[in-house]
Amino acid sequence: MIRSIFIPACLLLLLPAAALHAQIHAWSAQATWIRPGYIEDSVLRPCPIFRKIYHAPRNIRSAMLYITALGLYEAEVNGQRAGDAYFTPGWTSYDKRLQYQAYDVTKLLQAGDNELRVTIGEGWYRGAFGGLMQRDNYGKEAALLLELDVTYTDGSSAAIVSDTGWQCGTGPILHSDIYGGEILDARVATGNWRGVIPAQAPAAALVPTLSEPVTKQESFRPVKIFTTPAGEQVIDFGQNLAGWVRIRVKGKPGDTIRLSHAEVLDKAGNFYTGNLRQARATDTYILRGNGPEIFEPHFSWHGFRYVKVEGCDAKAADWRAIALYSALERTGAFSCSDPLINQLQHNIEWSLNSNFLDIPTDCPQRSERLGWTGDAHIFYRTASFNRNVQRFFAKWLQDLQADQRANGAVPNIIPNLYRNLPGAGKNGVAGWGDAAVIIPWTQYWVYNDTAILRAQYASMKAWVDHIQSMSKNDLWTVNGYGDWLAPGDSTSLPFIDQCYWAWSTQLLVRTATVLDRQEDVQYYSAMLQRVKAAFLQHYMAPGGKTMPNTQTSYVLALQFDLLPDSLQGKAAARLAALIRANDNHLSTGFLGTPYLLHVLSRHGYTDVAYTLLHQDTYPSWLYPVKMGATTIWEKWDAIRPDSSVQATSYNHYAYGAIGDWLYRVVAGIDAASPGYQRIIIRPQPGGRLTWAKARYRCPYGDIVSEWRIQRGRLHMRVEIPPGARAMVYVPGQTGKEAGPGKHVFAAPLPATVFLR
Ligand code: BGC
Repeated sequence: MIRSIFIPACLLLLLPAAALHAQIHAWSAQATWIRPGYIEDSVLRPCPIFRKIYHAPRNIRSAMLYITALGLYEAEVNGQRAGDAYFTPGWTSYDKRLQYQAYDVTKLLQAGDNELRVTIGEGWYRGAFGGLMQRDNYGKEAALLLELDVTYTDGSSAAIVSDTGWQCGTGPILHSDIYGGEILDARVATGNWRGVIPAQAPAAALVPTLSEPVTKQESFRPVKIFTTPAGEQVIDFGQNLAGWVRIRVKGKPGDTIRLSHAEVLDKAGNFYTGNLRQARATDTYILRGNGPEIFEPHFSWHGFRYVKVEGCDAKAADWRAIALYSALERTGAFSCSDPLINQLQHNIEWSLNSNFLDIPTDCPQRSERLGWTGDAHIFYRTASFNRNVQRFFAKWLQDLQADQRANGAVPNIIPNLYRNLPGAGKNGVAGWGDAAVIIPWTQYWVYNDTAILRAQYASMKAWVDHIQSMSKNDLWTVNGYGDWLAPGDSTSLPFIDQCYWAWSTQLLVRTATVLDRQEDVQYYSAMLQRVKAAFLQHYMAPGGKTMPNTQTSYVLALQFDLLPDSLQGKAAARLAALIRANDNHLSTGFLGTPYLLHVLSRHGYTDVAYTLLHQDTYPSWLYPVKMGATTIWEKWDAIRPDSSVQATSYNHYAYGAIGDWLYRVVAGIDAASPGYQRIIIRPQPGGRLTWAKARYRCPYGDIVSEWRIQRGRLHMRVEIPPGARAMVYVPGQTGKEAGPGKHVFAAPLPATVFLR
């Protein structure tokens, strides 16, 4: 339904990134921002509904609706919803950028009278949002801007615009709040129409929508409806997700049904909401009472698997849990012979689904759901294997740039909701602000997107310059989050700071090289040398030992190329030794985990990497799987071995960053050049796996890599898309060139494959 601004995914494949730019609408000068002409109830703030009757004098050939709002909007034409996008106009840095959408509504209009209605929810703009539950984060007033461009069959045209000729009233949605949920009284008729008044036009630039809309996706039926030990009626939908519940129910007028949402049951089997912080996550429906009624919220979503039902017999109603998320093209699939690892892949995809909801959020359930920069870059590559994230991140990077401070600091959350709070989140910290450099670079690498490098170059430079300006004697120390939530010995903050300074500078040098900015290449290469020298001087003991001596310290030093060749082998050996000494368990947090297995497999410890992959006691990737997780947890032991639950997120994609290793190392699909024009196929079989396969849709088409061990021999099947070339490395052999098409290989299993 949304036309002109979304390019079909199949077309996208070989389009240069510049073609991603959305079509710009020239707004009619008559279109005016309008707001309710009445004084709102200041407590609940029922959703305002704007309305206009438009008389079409002739038959209509085509009609496009352009619309945006301060708040979230849903537009209807003659009682039918315009488009299938939710949470529009989306979340951007509202002070600077506000998106509008375009809908082809030709089929919804008719000759004669037509009714246009737009309901506005609180949304990110003015709802209670953020850790402090502040209201009116961007502004106090809900407002609408709309233009309906109609072309009649005789070729004449008309523009119907928002102006003081509209009316505004209220209806059944008595309250709407992202965290809180909705209160909807079906007995309340829409009406009480009053006038509207012109609203102050926001200072933000109106921008077309670049990324995919949030739409309804999978729906789940209850797997179980039961009564908990505490006597509460609970529905289990079997999958943790972000979205809402749709209920079809019959009852008496005034019957009140309350649905509360939770991700887990506690140790006793009771409904647990202790991890939601201030999010009430409750939808309340008051029945009109004549015949079956269908309810679902409009401007709120919840992170949940379980729903507590009050006010009706749960078994007598019809239930669906509906997942909502950004409609990103599916680009990958991974599976292997171990069902637990397949469940891990499932959990990764579901945390991706649940947290790619217009912006990359940390979690979908508690009173947070913010665009934490660290989480986003940690997970980017994994996300890119499973979904096409190019436009999604192109949009978010524009907000990053918009919210970057004049001194180059990158706020820890984007959009920066906390921009007016003293001190909070203003100066990005190591491992978080670096998203400003790491994401554009990775996006370039994955999609051969030089446009993103050009677009973000000033922002990337400003971040590295900011670090430099905060440093002393070539050392950066910033009080950050460190290796967030690491279960083991903590890696000191200054060590991490220096690692990230080096890495961002390294990527900036590469970017300057791609963009042919020779002066910058020289300037930042020199900076990199100093940063590395300071690192070796301050954080390395002779003999390849980092100070601190933690798993994460070796992972970062090796991954970010901070060690001279002579020390790399020793550092990798120490990392492997630390893992063995930890009873073959990882001890890494948000920053160390994403690269842990890569560092091991790159330095000859693929066997240790597989030991960690298969590990199923805490802390490990498979421990949550064994505990029944259907998404990735924020903490390795969100549910402890004794089944007690922690007040943490059960849907946080950060540790899902292992997905990248599954595709690139287990299945062995990697890019040797930007955009996978040159491909590397180098699977590294190991552990208990007897087969693995992955399919990945790169910009040229599908790449497939599959291997299977049968009677001591390794069989490989590879597919290379048109226009690309690959080097295929059969384990234990030298690489072979392979062009587009299907290829099979078979070889004796080399002794270096450590199967257990
Ligand atoms: C978020 C994280 C985030 C972190 C910063 C948390 O509250 O959920 O994912 O990166 O804060 O340390």
